[in-house]
Amino acid sequence: MRSLKLETRNCTTAPNIAGKNSVDKLRVLITREQIAAKVAQMGERISADFAGETILLIGVLKGATIFLADLARQIKLDTTFDFIAVSSYGNAKQQSGEVKLLKDVDCSVEGRNIILVEDILDTGLTLTYLQNVLQAHRPKSLKVAALLDKISRRTEPIHGDYVGFAIPDEFVVGYGLDFAERYRNLPDICVLESGSETG
Ligand code: IMP
Ligand code: MG
Repeated sequence: MRSLKLETRNCTTAPNIAGKNSVDKLRVLITREQIAAKVAQMGERISADFAGETILLIGVLKGATIFLADLARQIKLDTTFDFIAVSSYGNAKQQSGEVKLLKDVDCSVEGRNIILVEDILDTGLTLTYLQNVLQAHRPKSLKVAALLDKISRRTEPIHGDYVGFAIPDEFVVGYGLDFAERYRNLPDICVLESGSETG
């Protein structure tokens, strides 16, 4: 049995485990070291901005899980976390334009400092929708932390308060980001240069 070697450091080509005739090419865009340094900086900024306060991080499933896990450990404040889920791309690389709430938060948001944690800001539809959902619960404050930002793709007037990296309009995977649920476990953020465009 051929094993999939998820080593992206040297810009390798990963065999596609979904189909033996197809090969996805991965090119490292942001290394694990660059991610770690940036997440540490973001944690420092958040810790300074909310000094003396408590924070509730709300991660958007599933893409934000790895970022949230790392960011939470860089915040030197009384911090709790929760998760929310919305409909996603499915198997396609294009957003349908419609956002649907699949899972609401478990804990109370009212009167609390909320930081919505997202893997990537693309069109902005998801975070605009989630901001509205959470504002209805009357938080004390509501900020957005996004590891990646594809600014050129934005259709909604939304910005991240804490943004890791601005990236070009390319489809990326790794560090939580997926293509058809795969590649979330890559330690680096990679551009998916070819592969199926399934819907
Ligand atoms: P938006 O609603 O268009 O801003 O899309 C945000 C969501 O789309 C993110 O949470 C990701 O799940 C997904 N997404 C956007 N761009 C990419 C990408 O390049 N790779 C993987 N997922 C992406
Ligand atoms: Mg997402």
